[in-house]
Amino acid sequence: MKIEKLARKGILKIASYIPGRSIEEVQKQYGAKRWVKLASNENLLGPSPQALEAIRKELSNIHFYPEGTSPVLRKALAKVLSLAEENIVVSNGADNLILMIANAFVDEGDEVIMADPTFPVYTNVTRIMGGKPVRVRLRDFTHDLDGMLNRVTRRTKLIFVCNPNNPTGTIVFEPSLNRFLAGLPGRVIVILDEAYGDFVEAPFYPSGLDYVKNGKQVIALRTFSKVYGLAGLRVGYAIGREDLIRCLYQVRDPFPVHRLAQAAAVAALGDTEHIVKSIQLVYEGRRYLYKELDRMGVRYVPSEANFVFIDFGKDIEEVFEGLLREGIIIRPGKTWGYLTCGRITIGRMEDNRRFIKALKKIL
Ligand SMILES: Cc1ncc(COP(=O)(O)O)c(C=O)c1O
Repeated sequence: MKIEKLARKGILKIASYIPGRSIEEVQKQYGAKRWVKLASNENLLGPSPQALEAIRKELSNIHFYPEGTSPVLRKALAKVLSLAEENIVVSNGADNLILMIANAFVDEGDEVIMADPTFPVYTNVTRIMGGKPVRVRLRDFTHDLDGMLNRVTRRTKLIFVCNPNNPTGTIVFEPSLNRFLAGLPGRVIVILDEAYGDFVEAPFYPSGLDYVKNGKQVIALRTFSKVYGLAGLRVGYAIGREDLIRCLYQVRDPFPVHRLAQAAAVAALGDTEHIVKSIQLVYEGRRYLYKELDRMGVRYVPSEANFVFIDFGKDIEEVFEGLLREGIIIRPGKTWGYLTCGRITIGRMEDNRRFIKALKKIL
């Protein structure tokens, strides 16, 4: 039988998520170089040293299944966030939590509102469930909350607010988000994706935690992939009202987070020195990049995240290829419909300097 008849309706039309190119992949094409990957917003300071130590200690236990609900990590998170454990669910990355949210809340035909462009996984999971993604164009590279509110219908089920937004690094501010939430009907759940929340410097950045504590119909997503430097281990968590989180438990895998990841995340959560250093690296890198880009007359969107969205004023494919020849991998903006733009991760100062030096050569 034809695969079109076997697969669920619409599944074959879903565009796969295209990740940033890995060092392994570009090496095959361009050969061995001193590569620096600025394509996936990882923490270039590396993993928390305390997490590495915890992994070493846990290694000899990997013949046992992990604890399914990550109880030690959940308890540690509950303490740090001053929340009840019932308000927290841990899984293998925020990516998986986004899928769980769609699984738990999106029925066929439901509408899911999100920005355009934003993190593409929201669209994919909506489509997997047979829902309809409703994309609202950014205004000045920022979520257009009024525009999003205008698109709410009787079928709207979820609204994703990526704060800071990937790929533009912009945030929505607390007063606007409060007004937005107040204008929504009771059947809508707002997902605040705070994957990059640790890097925000601006005042009036709304914290999903406060909304959860106030019983709002909000689920906030956080990850160990960014500030904690554990992207390769895949750990993230969601916080929300107990009844909402209970629904996520209904659709959870039995053992989503492996032993090494659980142990590492607990250790990383308490590694204040690494957290502070990682945040400072981003603050310092942002200022350096802004200064250099200003000098070169290259436009960019001021960012609250560990990446910067840059308009190179030139075909992005040319810039992308040129940077690859210099051993630097970035994320071209074509995927989001910006033909002269790209997103670059803020790295260590030596990485940032290398990027600027290569860029000067190319432009
Ligand atoms: C906005 C946003 N949300 C979620 C994720 C996924 O995070 P995780 O690595 O925890 O799956 C990413 C990853 O880059 C992201 O940019």
